[in-house]
Amino acid sequence: VRKNKHKSIFFFDSGQGGLTLWESVNQAFPLLNTIYLGDNARYPYGNKSSETILLYSQQALNFAVSQGAVLFIVACGTASSIVVERLQKNSPIPIIGVVDQFADFASEVTTKVCSIHSSYNGVSVLGTRFTIENGRLANLITNHKHLEVWQRACPLFVPLVEEGVTEGEIPESVCNLYLRDIPFNTSVILLACTHFPRLTVAIAQHLEKNLKRDVFFENAAGRILIKRCASKKIECPIILLDSSPTIIKFLSHFCLNENDLFENKHSFYCTDNELKFNRVAKFFVSHFSSDFEKIILS
Ligand code: DGL
Repeated sequence: VRKNKHKSIFFFDSGQGGLTLWESVNQAFPLLNTIYLGDNARYPYGNKSSETILLYSQQALNFAVSQGAVLFIVACGTASSIVVERLQKNSPIPIIGVVDQFADFASEVTTKVCSIHSSYNGVSVLGTRFTIENGRLANLITNHKHLEVWQRACPLFVPLVEEGVTEGEIPESVCNLYLRDIPFNTSVILLACTHFPRLTVAIAQHLEKNLKRDVFFENAAGRILIKRCASKKIECPIILLDSSPTIIKFLSHFCLNENDLFENKHSFYCTDNELKFNRVAKFFVSHFSSDFEKIILS
């Protein structure tokens, strides 16, 4: 691998899913130098142990540092539930993860909603099995005592997105499997896995049908209505949140006056079959034309 000569922001994920975050950041800061690494040789992380995820993340961090990265963003919901604090101890560069950034933001949005609709103080967290069993995000949110957290592991959402099956009968049944007992007081749902923002329509349809509420999706581009409920009796909407606004907010401070971070240089790496990686990447990023280069992490 050529040594990267440019100061860059590094995005790390187990696969292509983190490209959803990369894309939002790229739209907010089109000239920002970025490096993206998807560890598809060892994907998925969602069902692995903490030790394994830590080891893989440490290797990714070593690679990031060798490439001149100035910030390591753990774009993977699963890895960011465990690695950020532990890797930070011996890291020469700062590390942030989607999970930690998410908790305060989610609490802020939910608190705003329940200042109008006081009984809707529920935050629901959807993630991989690891993210949910690890419970870090839920714990961070329950620090805000007025909020109630419900969480559910949704492992089948990941292959659905990978296969491009994001609308129709199959995602509908899977939503029913995972979301049928989502609490009525939910006002905010955290999409705490890289893949889930691609399922917002299916999730919104399920919620509209079963909870009779309007459903919005909020990301860095703003808040948009996904599903209007014709027969709604309850005024409080449900807001699906992804983590991009918090990362963008962080970057807008971090990159202030760092002119050499804005040279529009981008590199993309994966750890296994780059042809397959490029094919799946198109489910995550519209008009993606860059090619991934394969590297070996050790
Ligand atoms: N990137 C993972 C996450 O955000 C999903 C895929 C996996 O299990 O590795 O949790």
